[in-house]
Order: sequence, then structure tokens, then C-alpha cells
Amino acid sequence: MADRIYIFDTTLRDGEQSPGASMNVDEKLEIARQLERLGVDVIEAGFPISSPGDFQAVQRISQMIKNCTVCGLTRAVPKDIEVAAEALKDAVNPRIHTGLGVSDSHLQHKLRMTREQAMERGVTAVKHARKFVSDVEYFLEDSGRADRDYLCQVIEAVIKAGATVINIPDTTGYTTPNEYGALIRYVVEHVSNIDKARISVHCHNDLGMAVANSLAGVQNGARQIECTINGIGERAGNTSLEEVVMAMHVRKDIYDCVTGVTTQEIYKTSRMVSTTTGIFVQPNKAIVGANAFAHSSGIHQDGVLKERTTYEIIDPQDVGINESKIILSARSGRHALQHRLQELGFAYDETQIDKIYARFLELADRKKEVYDEDLAKIAADETSTVAHIYELLHVQVSCGDKMLPTATVTIRDASGRELTDSCHGTGPVDAIYRAVNRIVNVENDLIEFSIQSVTEGIDALADVTIRIRRGNDIYTGRGADNDIVVASARAYLHALNKLLARVTPSDAEREMAGSV
Ligand code: KIV
Ligand code: ZN
Repeated sequence: MADRIYIFDTTLRDGEQSPGASMNVDEKLEIARQLERLGVDVIEAGFPISSPGDFQAVQRISQMIKNCTVCGLTRAVPKDIEVAAEALKDAVNPRIHTGLGVSDSHLQHKLRMTREQAMERGVTAVKHARKFVSDVEYFLEDSGRADRDYLCQVIEAVIKAGATVINIPDTTGYTTPNEYGALIRYVVEHVSNIDKARISVHCHNDLGMAVANSLAGVQNGARQIECTINGIGERAGNTSLEEVVMAMHVRKDIYDCVTGVTTQEIYKTSRMVSTTTGIFVQPNKAIVGANAFAHSSGIHQDGVLKERTTYEIIDPQDVGINESKIILSARSGRHALQHRLQELGFAYDETQIDKIYARFLELADRKKEVYDEDLAKIAADETSTVAHIYELLHVQVSCGDKMLPTATVTIRDASGRELTDSCHGTGPVDAIYRAVNRIVNVENDLIEFSIQSVTEGIDALADVTIRIRRGNDIYTGRGADNDIVVASARAYLHALNKLLARVTPSDAEREMAGSV
């Protein structure tokens, strides 16, 4: 019988460590709800001691999610473990994920401990965590570069102390598939009590091998895979959930494994994570990229039309890509819109539907056909849970090849005051941002600006993503509109609202920065 592989999703923890990907609590709740629909086994909801926001996210996800294990990350420190236990206390199936570095590099430079001291610290942490929960996962950071025999000794000791899952991370994305597979095999063969725990793989993508390494781990005895939606995460990211799951699904003949994932929910989850974090999915990305099922050469098109499997190894519907794209027009009513949003998996209350409908009518007036992608974009804009500290009321720009670009912007602040200012700039967007800065007066640097069209055609909705930096923190903003100038202004206010709503970092957060 095919073996069951457990999917541990860390989009809300390791994924959130992508620069600019930070999400507020409501956004995390919405993603957690979708991960539950997707059928992952474990949701790593955050790192509770790192900030009040992370604590709250883990706590609220624990209260809401019933069908997945909810997990909180900690250092191997008693206070971290106690805070995580408190955040997880309402979870149906809580898990504490604790651990410590295991490579000599981590021991000497980061932890400044001997091997014996680190092992002792790990054992104490597991015993402490077991006082609160029966499910304790232990991570051995930088296992990919660690001494194998020491790694096995620590694993044996922490299992004896009560660890139920052993996470063997390739933290730096250094290993190759053969090497990582052999490492997992070595652990299976050299840890005498390994049958008392489940082995988990956690691979980073620095050499583009995270998915291949995770699969090699599975072939050698691992039964849990840690991954993120769209592969987001620290540096080059983590194992991509959609790729690893579909690899096992399509190549059952090779892996002989099953997961609990409802694959038809993959595309929707990918879109939700991309929209919320502002991290684009590259068009040629496997499984969820815009071109993953597009056939452009005549020979390929002909082949697919005659028989889909000639050039397609996955039916797009298996990952939730619906082929009928055209949906609504200016003649569609509010009810039709609500129904279509429900079909797309969005449930909104009446007030939200009113706002989305107003934007939809505006868009449908300018655009003949409104596509699912357009709807998802305006729905995300209108129902954003980012506090509306400033709201865009009007923006007007004059520019051209012989003119000094000048913008006039009117925004409303939280107290309802309408504020207007104008400024010129090097281009229309620069002029808008300068005008906004004159009103808002919050220092920041614009570090990235990108624009994409949501669908095809000259009347397509423009989707602007920007990143702004203040100190060490990066904030992502997104805005969509037919008019690129309006979309740019919306994106800037979205990012500024995130910046202004940010909770002041706690001491723990500052201390933790960069430590996992
Ligand atoms: O990459 C890593 O080692 C981690 C651990 C904290 C699990 O993310
Ligand atoms: Zn990681």
C-alpha cells in the first residue's frame, strides 16, 4: 500500500521570512483557512515569542482550525516554549517545534556552545515542551552541513526525551539530492530509536534543489515534508508545496506515496498567497505559473487539441485551473457577482459585496468582459484587512514628453479629514509619491516598483506592486485599476498603511531577528 506523506506547511512562518512578505493577523487567518481547505496536515502558524502579531496569529489560528495540527516555532529556550504553549492552548492538535543548530559552524559562531552543551540544551527543551503538548517536533538546524554521527547522537537523545517528529533541515540549501537522500538513509540506519519518531525534511532552495532534495528524503524514509505555497521563504525560498505534492501525485509509479492534499485547491491557494504577500509567481513556474499550461507553438497546440496528454502531463483542472475564463459583464447583477465569488472560493459579507460590486461596475463600464483574475484582484483590494489609515480619494496627473510631470492627490485620513497636495517629479509615479509624502510625511524609501497586467488586452486591469523600506523593515503594497496612475497611488497608500499599522517591534523580536 502507498505510504502516507504528511504535508507541513510553513508559509505563515518560514514563508513570511521572505523580504516584504509580512502579513497581518487577519491575512494569516484567511490563508490558514485556505490551507485547511487544501488539506495540509500541519500549519506552522508562526513564531509566538517573536512579536505580539505572531503570538496573536498562532493563538487565533489555534482557535479556528479544527482539521490540521497547528504548530508554533520556538528556540530551545524555556520562555519561548512557554509562550508557544500559551498561544497554542486552544488548538485541537497543538505542536511545539523547537530546536537548535547542529553543524559546527552554528555551534561555534552562532551558539558559541560545545556539542555536549547543545545536546543537553535540546534534550531539556524537548522535556520542557512535553510538559505542555504531546506532539513535539525537534529541528536540527543546518543538518545538511553537520557531522553525521553527532547529528545521530542528538536525534537519539531528543527522541528519548520525547520528540515525536525529527526535522532534518538543509537550512542553507547546500546539499544535492543524492547527498540529502543519503543523509536521511544514514539517520534511518544509525539512530536506534528512530522508529519512535517521524522524519521530516525541510529544504531551502539556494541551489534550486529543494523539491528534488525533499523527494530524495522521502525515497529514503522521510514521511513529512515541510514546504510553502509558491516556494516562498528565507532567501531563495523553501520546497514548493504545489511542486512536491504534484510530483508525488503524477509520479505515483516512482514514489508510491499519497498525501491528504485536495489538489484542486492548489491554484486558488497560490493566488491567495501571491496577492496577500505581493510576491509574484514567475510565469514559467511549474504547476501554478501563468504559462504552466499554455501552449504557444503551433505543433504543440495542434497536438493538445487532438489529445491533451500529448503535451500535458497534468490536467489543469486537477490543480483547480478552470478553463472557462469569461465571466461577467456590465449587465451582470449583484447576485451573479456574489455567486461567482463563491464559486471562486471567496465568502464575503453584505458590506464587502457592496464595495466589490461598486468597483466591479466601474470596471465593467470600462472593460467588456470581467475575468476571474480581475474579480479576485478587486475583491482583494476592497476587502484588504490592512487598516485604512489613509484612503485615496482622487489622483490627477499631467505629463508628457515636453511637460514636467505634476500630480495632485487627495486622501482622507483616519479622522475623516480630506487632504490635498501637489508636487512634480521625474515621472508621473514619482510625482504622485512626492505629493503623497507631502501630506503623510512618513519617511521611507521606495525600493521596488513593478507593474503587470492582470489579464490580456489593452483594457486589462493594471496590478502594481511596490516595496518601501523604513529602517530594516520592508512593506509591500498592491493596487489594481484600469489606470496605471491610480493603481500606483493605491499601491503606495496600501504599503504606507501597512507601515503605519505595524506594531512596534518587541525586544524579543529584535533579539530574534536573523536567529532562525
Ligand atoms: O531552515 C531551517 O533550518 C529552519 C528551522 C528553524 C526549522 O527554518
Ligand atoms: Zn527554514
